[in-house]
Amino acid sequence: MQFKRLFETGQIGKLTTRNKLVMAPMSLGYTEYPYNFTRQYIDAIEERAKGGVGLIITAHVKAESAIDPYPIGEMFACLDREYNLRNFAELTEVTRRKQSQMVHWYEVG
Ligand SMILES: Cc1cc2nc3c(=O)[nH]c(=O)nc-3n(C[C@H](O)[C@H](O)[C@H](O)COP(=O)(O)O)c2cc1C
Repeated sequence: MQFKRLFETGQIGKLTTRNKLVMAPMSLGYTEYPYNFTRQYIDAIEERAKGGVGLIITAHVKAESAIDPYPIGEMFACLDREYNLRNFAELTEVTRRKQSQMVHWYEVG
């Protein structure tokens, strides 16, 4: 098989991935007020996981929205409220159900 090592188990610290295929963080713009990922984003990520990507990294996620509310538009998801938690949990769940791992990319501002 070509690129055999790409399909072998990956290891980053304590995190084990089923292969070395990684989806790099990309701002797809699929977020909506109040700072959640949209259904379209969750479905798209699930398809990536189904397709066999070992590790999926989200686009920017803001760690909080009170100190630095920028941007108020629809660019970033944010994880500082309970309703965000449910949204992020679903995103992680659809990924793990397909045996992929997920990393949320947090930024402060
Ligand atoms: C939070 C975040 C969001 C990103 N969004 C995009 C994006 O929307 N489009 C893009 O081409 N690269 C984006 N990047 C960069 C890519 O993830 C990737 O690092 C870049 O394309 C270089 O890939 P390479 O090292 O394989 O050449 C983003 C990076 C980060 C950290």
